[in-house]
Amino acid sequence: MSLVRAVPVSCGHYLPARVVENAEFEKTLDTSDEWIASRTGIRRRHFAAEGETTSDLAIAAAKAALANGGLSGTDIDAIVLATATPDQTFPATAVRVQTAIGMEGGFAFDIQAVCAGFVFALAQADALMRAGLAKRVMVIGAETFSRILDFTDRGTCVLFGDGAGALILETQESAGGPQDRGILATNLNSDGRFADILYVDGGPSSTGTAGVVHMSGREVFKHAVIKLAQAGEAALASAGLETSDVDWLVPHQANLRIMTQTAAKLGMPIEKVVVTVQDHGNTSAASIPLALSVAAGEGRFKRGDVLLMEAIGGGLSWGAAVMRW
Ligand code: ACO
Repeated sequence: MSLVRAVPVSCGHYLPARVVENAEFEKTLDTSDEWIASRTGIRRRHFAAEGETTSDLAIAAAKAALANGGLSGTDIDAIVLATATPDQTFPATAVRVQTAIGMEGGFAFDIQAVCAGFVFALAQADALMRAGLAKRVMVIGAETFSRILDFTDRGTCVLFGDGAGALILETQESAGGPQDRGILATNLNSDGRFADILYVDGGPSSTGTAGVVHMSGREVFKHAVIKLAQAGEAALASAGLETSDVDWLVPHQANLRIMTQTAAKLGMPIEKVVVTVQDHGNTSAASIPLALSVAAGEGRFKRGDVLLMEAIGGGLSWGAAVMRW
């Protein structure tokens, strides 16, 4: 049975100019480059400049994706932007991008599923395209997590970074099987019973402030490995594929140990895992599209390769997507 698939066209990314090495935290906190690198794999991250907003990062990534695809803003008819750090409570950060890239019609909106945001946004884009609501969609993950960090809390502030990545998808009539290019399956989950192990203590209707991140790291870690592997396996089963069919695991970049253990649970060698956490830290919703764009820029993906993306974040919310490049 033929059906419409959301097929990847191009991607792009942007990282703020300021690079913060682990050693910088040694000046103000009881921590060390050795502790951070050995527990997380992180060596450095980028922080946005004063006045640089999430939409600034997203716009730069969007323009890079358009340039890489030989497209202009008028070629895009929807933007789905995942962020937990929007410029403003409203309007959506996505509409800032819409205007900046010269999109003259269509629609743009934000998705909030924290670190799982990009996978949730991909699933939205896929559903919109299959339903015939949009033909060419830009999916963006963009964050300025440095704005919601408590720089006196060594358990969280060393983990996160800022950045943005964008992926352009376009509809294509396909045979309807696992050999098709494009998004083959997605799997989404959330469980609000775990909302308090990873949260921000602010918001418009509670404190009227933006708040800062709080996390029970060890608790999140335990959920992460189990839930990510389950979501990955479920998405692969929906796509009619097996772990051995996967060419690249492109995971949310939170912690190298989570990525290594999840890959092991899925029976995948670490050589098949795209790892950028050492240079980006955890950029929440931006981490998968950043990893995608870096790996694509290095020419690592061949046409027809099977990519498995998976992510977990505050909510808890987690999921996976299978896409043939
Ligand atoms: N430097 C030095 N010591 C530290 C630091 C630091 N930066 N941070 C914590 N410690 C200390 C703790 O205080 C604790 O000390 P204690 O034993 O004296 O109490 C000790 O190190 C061990 O702390 P744990 O939290 O148990 O350390 P763990 O090995 O679990 O590593 C980490 C912590 C890196 C946060 C890990 O648990 C992790 O990565 N968790 C998952 C985070 C994640 O994946 N989040 C994803 C979603 S993020 C989102 O959605 C926004």
